[in-house]
Amino acid sequence: MSKLESPIKINTTVIKNRIVMPPLVCFNWADRNGFETVSRAEHYGKRSDAETGLIVIEAAAIEPSGRIVESELGIWTDEHIPQYNRIANRCHQNGTVVIVQIVHAGSKSIGQTVISSSVHEVDDKVVHEMTLDQIEDVKTSFVKAAVRAFKAGLDGVEVHGAHGYLLSQFTAKTVNNRTDYYGGSVKNRVKLSIEIVKLIREATSKEFIIGYRYGVNDPSFEEDIQMIKLLDDAGVDMFNVSAGIGIKPFEVPNNYPASFITYLGYQMKQHTQKPVVSVFGILDPELAIELIEKDYTDMVAIGRGLLADPKWSLKALTQKPVNRCYQCKPRCKFAIDGHQCPWAKK
Ligand SMILES: Cc1cc2nc3c(=O)[nH]c(=O)nc-3n(C[C@H](O)[C@H](O)[C@H](O)COP(=O)(O)O)c2cc1C
Repeated sequence: MSKLESPIKINTTVIKNRIVMPPLVCFNWADRNGFETVSRAEHYGKRSDAETGLIVIEAAAIEPSGRIVESELGIWTDEHIPQYNRIANRCHQNGTVVIVQIVHAGSKSIGQTVISSSVHEVDDKVVHEMTLDQIEDVKTSFVKAAVRAFKAGLDGVEVHGAHGYLLSQFTAKTVNNRTDYYGGSVKNRVKLSIEIVKLIREATSKEFIIGYRYGVNDPSFEEDIQMIKLLDDAGVDMFNVSAGIGIKPFEVPNNYPASFITYLGYQMKQHTQKPVVSVFGILDPELAIELIEKDYTDMVAIGRGLLADPKWSLKALTQKPVNRCYQCKPRCKFAIDGHQCPWAKK
């Protein structure tokens, strides 16, 4: 038995194996009001039928004005709850644990007038520095979104703190120039994320999983280490480690078998006792097994691999060959339209 199939606990919930489906927006699969137009119970259900241990449902917008794209799933009104309830019911039948990523895109939101930690240059947009009232409103929207996930029967949420979206815009000193208590020191820049995590805990339950997609923001691991520690103390149960703003590729040791982004997970794992999920380019089961066996990570996230092959997890656990993602260039076709992935067409 490979360690890939060994259970792991996140907070009090046992995940049956180490395979995670990370959040993957299904572009053009929702209407302009945040409702699915293609069944997510079916989409995630198929990956759950094939033994995926943990599914993180794609980014769901906490406010309509904080959407990454117009066709993004919403979680800003109670009317959205049933679509998450259907996913929870479907995936729980297989013992898959399922949480949803909640996001505000800040200056990367749709629309021409957008908000962020500080004013900065974004093509074709007017960026406003958030007032303290607007910060309070965003906190409330995050918490209400988490409560909707809780009511829908999901096992938790993942707070999106990576990829240059709003919370990244607060943690990154390259963007955040505030002079109040949300700017300046590491502690101040991560304060909004910490407040959100604590409020979600108060509004849900002790057991509710609070994951955090952590973007390693710049080449200074020193700051990342401090932030991870503060988030850990605030009650984050799991870190899904990815890139933040402006991360530059760097060399990884010769004997490390995966990408530099995957390596970030290994680095962060040295500084928290909470489970760490590592991601990027883990397309083959052999690599997933090696990363887990060598303790480079606690869990592996298989993104495009699970889009190309809904049975990726089962095949990896039973050591069968998988449909390999083609890594389409210049860009993943699923990231243009979910139906355009060459594997979806087969
Ligand atoms: C189509 C597509 C949609 C994505 N949507 C999200 C998202 O909603 N939230 C997020 O944090 N990352 C998102 N990502 C990044 C993935 O979670 C993952 O980190 C990335 O695909 C690298 O992993 P992979 O090499 O296994 O695909 C997306 C990536 C793709 C290709």
